[in-house]
Amino acid sequence: MSDLETLKSDFEAAIQAAADNEALEAVRLDALGKKGRISEQLKQLGQLPPEDRKQAGQALNILKDQIAEAIAARAKTLGAEAMNKKLAEEQIDISLPIAQQAQGFAHPLSRTIEEITAIFSDMGFVIAEGPDIETDYYNFTALNIPPEHPARQEHDTFYLMPDEAGQRPVLRTHTSPVQVRTMQKMKPPIRLIVPGRTYRSDHDATHSPMFHQCEGLVIGENIHMGHLKGCLIDFCRAFFGVDDLPVRFRPSFFPFTEPSAEVDIGCSRSDGGLKIGAGDDWLEILGSGMVNPRVLENCGYDPEQVQGFAFGMGIERLAMLKYGIPDLRTFYDSDMRWLRHYGFVSADMAALHTGLGGE
Ligand code: DAH
Repeated sequence: MSDLETLKSDFEAAIQAAADNEALEAVRLDALGKKGRISEQLKQLGQLPPEDRKQAGQALNILKDQIAEAIAARAKTLGAEAMNKKLAEEQIDISLPIAQQAQGFAHPLSRTIEEITAIFSDMGFVIAEGPDIETDYYNFTALNIPPEHPARQEHDTFYLMPDEAGQRPVLRTHTSPVQVRTMQKMKPPIRLIVPGRTYRSDHDATHSPMFHQCEGLVIGENIHMGHLKGCLIDFCRAFFGVDDLPVRFRPSFFPFTEPSAEVDIGCSRSDGGLKIGAGDDWLEILGSGMVNPRVLENCGYDPEQVQGFAFGMGIERLAMLKYGIPDLRTFYDSDMRWLRHYGFVSADMAALHTGLGGE
């Protein structure tokens, strides 16, 4: 056997004997590494007489390729063996019960806001926002509630420290200031709702110092009371899911609307229980009216050119009525048992936005 053949069979045996990648790498270095035995021989080719050099060079290069191939093949085999071993050892027992994952729930207030938003989005309304800390001007004056107006007392306002100009900012007592803010920024036609936090210094089973309202505003040419009624009747029926829900518009007063109407829905009260949509009793659920021309003027509109209607509803109240939640304070207790009972799973929340009423 020539030297090269011995070398070849030595290496082949070593390659086959390599039990892991590390051992295989050691063989590779021994054969093909910079100081490997084949590399060394290649370096010495120069010392051979020219007539032998070519043949020896070819033979060495062939050997080099063969060894490289054998190493690659062995690496592949080792890889496959390792994978099979892993698969055999790491069997998954699919009969084991899965680990319990804590399930999250959407708060009924979030749910109610989503429902209101979905209904009005279907009618082409967009969502607007405004600051929680308001100026006296936007919260009251621009809405036709001048200083000394009795309506200011009814709002139980939280006042903040006066600014440099001596003006006391307020925590907004309603979402109505966003009407003015948006009218000043946008041109009619306008169709928006404003779900958001509001604040009043009041605390009992039906009042919380922080609560939520949803304002609505429609402004355009020739908007009249018929639009207001149609829109709010549709809303009440969609929200409570009662197609023939009786809806009543009762004359009322708000400084920022003229005329104003409180909206009542039909219900029955018996044995301490409340049933919505049946019976001969009424339940007040929101305030509304045609936007007072003074408010339009405060926003830079000409009341001869554009008119509009507005409405405002308490979100907690709507949620309590729809989901039978008896005490408003429980909304903010962060009690997981309560949330598990009254909350909603996320899949149901997502389904709301596939379009209400459309199959
Ligand atoms: N801002 C009123 C409140 O907090 C609710 C309201 C009533 C808003 C009538 C309106 C409206 O836009 O037209 O009690």
